Amino acid sequence: MTNEQKIVVGISGASGAIYAKRLLDNLARTSNPIAIVMSDHARQIWEEELEGLKIENYDRPVFGIRDFNVPFVSGSNAWDACVVIPCSMGMLGRIAHGYSDDAIARTADVQLKERKKLILVPRETPYNLVHIENMRLLTLAGAVILPATPSFYSKPKTLEEAVDTVIARVLDHLGMENCLRQRWQEAASSPTTA
Ligand SMILES: Cc1cc2nc3c(=O)[nH]c(=O)nc-3n(C[C@H](O)[C@H](O)[C@H](O)COP(=O)(O)O)c2cc1C
Repeated sequence: MTNEQKIVVGISGASGAIYAKRLLDNLARTSNPIAIVMSDHARQIWEEELEGLKIENYDRPVFGIRDFNVPFVSGSNAWDACVVIPCSMGMLGRIAHGYSDDAIARTADVQLKERKKLILVPRETPYNLVHIENMRLLTLAGAVILPATPSFYSKPKTLEEAVDTVIARVLDHLGMENCLRQRWQEAASSPTTA
């Protein structure tokens, strides 16, 4: 897998703007073409949760959810991957049922129909049956449901380290090398010298 794939980062209005931030921090270190699409609710929550941090600081194009003047909303110009992070249950439902009336839902729809990569990082708890059924449908349609569920066996000491256990899995699914967290049994399985 080349590291030069073109990636759309969709940010919707679930809590957990830090997940989007950490993904963008990592992608910013690469030369991959990145575009950011942000819903109105996402912008509100970003400002609330990441006080003072401007999305524009990333020096990557930022589009609003009503902006359809972007290439990746058309199957004729689909990008390689789209990650919706965090993914609200509202957005998840709109994608699951083909409501392509905003730029994130339409981009996700294009990824599915063109058999391109779509990674959704939902953040909600608990789930109701509607959420679960929508995730089932999206899995059947080809999306990867990668919940914002940190792991703890690497003993994260900061919020960022905990968040990075999720971001590492997102990067894994994008096929991008990363060493954001120790892999289970990695040290133990390394060859030992006599
Ligand atoms: C402070 C706050 C936190 C929220 N957290 C979540 C959440 O964690 N998960 C979720 O699915 N919706 C959450 N919501 C609700 C979404 O913001 C709402 O459903 C919104 O319509 C989603 O819009 P979007 O999908 O266009 O971004 C939250 C709303 C607010 C105001």
